[in-house]
Amino acid sequence: MNGFRLDKRQVRAAFEAAAARYDEVAVLQREIAQRILERLELIKLQPQRILDIGAGTGLATQALGQRYRQARVIALDLAHGMLQQARRRGGLMQRLFDRRDFVCADAEHLPFADHSIDLIFSSATLQWCSDLDHTFAEFRRILAPGGLLMFSTFGPDTLKELRQSWQAADAAAQDEATHVHPFIDMHDIGDALLRAGLADPVMDVEHFTLTYSDAYQLMRELKTLGAHNVASDRRHSLTGKTRVQNMLAAYETFRVDGLLPASYEVVYGHAWAAGISKNEIAVDPPVNVLNPGVRR
Ligand SMILES: C[S@@+](CC[C@H](N)C(=O)[O-])C[C@H]1O[C@@H](n2cnc3c(N)ncnc32)[C@H](O)[C@@H]1O
Repeated sequence: MNGFRLDKRQVRAAFEAAAARYDEVAVLQREIAQRILERLELIKLQPQRILDIGAGTGLATQALGQRYRQARVIALDLAHGMLQQARRRGGLMQRLFDRRDFVCADAEHLPFADHSIDLIFSSATLQWCSDLDHTFAEFRRILAPGGLLMFSTFGPDTLKELRQSWQAADAAAQDEATHVHPFIDMHDIGDALLRAGLADPVMDVEHFTLTYSDAYQLMRELKTLGAHNVASDRRHSLTGKTRVQNMLAAYETFRVDGLLPASYEVVYGHAWAAGISKNEIAVDPPVNVLNPGVRR
């Protein structure tokens, strides 16, 4: 994404390490998944095969199975440990009559046949894919005609206070390093959907602010989520003690009412594989921001 290469082995290792405690801290991720599931309620769809990409501990996988009882739901994740947590979710009855499958794979190289999936759901994961064009082309390849892609990811304002604080610390050290993952703009995501041949993209954005008593607390939480920086061009050796202290001091300038904010720009989107009839949309969905003034 953004010409920025991710080290997939490090991404996987970070999420393997995070799997056991992810649910304790994934408050925002839970809220976002819930909001996409609510959006899905507005769309008439009877999927037989659903793929939850970057399923993590399987919160949405389980909800999708409950919402579409006839469907086979596949949870896919790069981290095996996440899938183990997902499998444990649900009671004994669910496991006895499980219609869920678990696949450990990379979203950018999907081990599924062409046109084999009716609904791709992906929450808070696309920011971990290196090449959005390639990823969306893969999604388009496996979607059946009339199939739907429904996702959320993070936009450029995400963790802007942390990014700016590191930039201030780097400027003091007369050096540049990548400390905070760069996030892609909603409009560029919409363009990538179209380039992949996905139709009628609808995108919108929502801003959240979480608060922390200090920046260490935020960084600890990011680590517990598996979301600490895993950029392959990060220069580990240069993040010295003085620089960290400069970053913490810079973050203090954001303090309001005794708390430090952390901004999140959440991008929601959906798009179709060609073949869907407009009559199948049950209610007026949000304005198409790629073509303002047009309601699809
Ligand atoms: C922030 S978590 C979100 C998990 C879940 N969707 C949720 O909302 O709680 C991101 C998940 O994506 C997975 N992931 C990261 N890169 C991936 C990739 N290239 N392919 C598949 N899964 C990936 C991680 O292992 C992690 O479980």
